[in-house]
Amino acid sequence: MGKLQDKVAIVTGASSGIGLAIAKALGREGAAVVLAGRTQGPMEEAANEISSNSGRAAVHKVDVRDEQQMRKLVDDAVNEFGKLDVMVNNAGVNPFDNVLEGDVQKWRETLETNVIGLALGCREAYRVMQGKGGHIVNITSVAARYAEPDGPMYAASKHAAGALTESLRVALLGKNIRITAVMPGAVATSIVRNMPEEQLFAIGRMFGVDPEQAGLKPGEQLPQEILDRVATAAKNMVLRPEDVAEAVLYAVSQPETVHLNEIMVRPAQPLQMPGMNLPA
Ligand SMILES: NC(=O)c1ccc[n+]([C@@H]2O[C@H](COP(=O)([O-])OP(=O)(O)OC[C@H]3O[C@@H](n4cnc5c(N)ncnc54)[C@H](OP(=O)(O)O)[C@@H]3O)[C@@H](O)[C@H]2O)c1
Repeated sequence: MGKLQDKVAIVTGASSGIGLAIAKALGREGAAVVLAGRTQGPMEEAANEISSNSGRAAVHKVDVRDEQQMRKLVDDAVNEFGKLDVMVNNAGVNPFDNVLEGDVQKWRETLETNVIGLALGCREAYRVMQGKGGHIVNITSVAARYAEPDGPMYAASKHAAGALTESLRVALLGKNIRITAVMPGAVATSIVRNMPEEQLFAIGRMFGVDPEQAGLKPGEQLPQEILDRVATAAKNMVLRPEDVAEAVLYAVSQPETVHLNEIMVRPAQPLQMPGMNLPA
């Protein structure tokens, strides 16, 4: 019997990377999982995988920045599976915008996704968890703690997400709703797709990938085999999405008397990249 048998979970940003790994991990442990995001194909595949392993899963097309869609997501999950026990607010973007020469549209998208989208997830989960209990997990970042000279708005959004999570922890005391910030370091995912081309290609080359041959294209999801190659070649300098999923699973499968507020999960060695200032 899985650790989350009879639980119901929503995971936002479940179409790739960390969110996809979290959805699969929760499903593997017996939770009914609602995968929420904008790109349906990979979520359908993961839902089929969960269902074929005798689990329960559903897919909802959602933009986390949209208040009505977030409300409907949570209502539909409760209508379909009877309740909501775990809400994982994972959807996020990194514009790799340095602000000093930056683009205000990218700043707005970053704050609306990483902060407002996450806040909507917290609010809507609370609406159906109050009086019943539950667990909210917010995927922030090590960038919630440090300065990022190459990504000030991303760092600002993650500091905000961290402050929001800690403030809600206090607001939720005594309400039987736990809230956890999971703060990953570098993870091999497609989040790097919005990097300037020369940086994206430099990372590829650094880990033995020929960018042109591999079909690396700025703004587009990276093929899974490239992510796997980077994760293998980078050895202990990057995490795999499954490593973060394990941390989420650990947080949400604690006994009711235990509240893990924050988990920072980093690769064993700091990622060093030429021309980039990354937090150690
Ligand atoms: N990778 C890292 O090194 C790292 C480190 C620390 C923290 N994180 C955080 O981990 C989370 C997941 O990122 P990842 O690394 O797994 O990157 P990813 O593979 O790019 O996944 C991001 C997910 O968020 C979804 N998303 C983005 N905007 C959305 C929106 N408006 N509405 C709904 N879904 C949206 C994306 O799907 P669609 O575009 O299809 O909607 C995708 O499923 C993010 O919050 C990120 O900041 C990542």
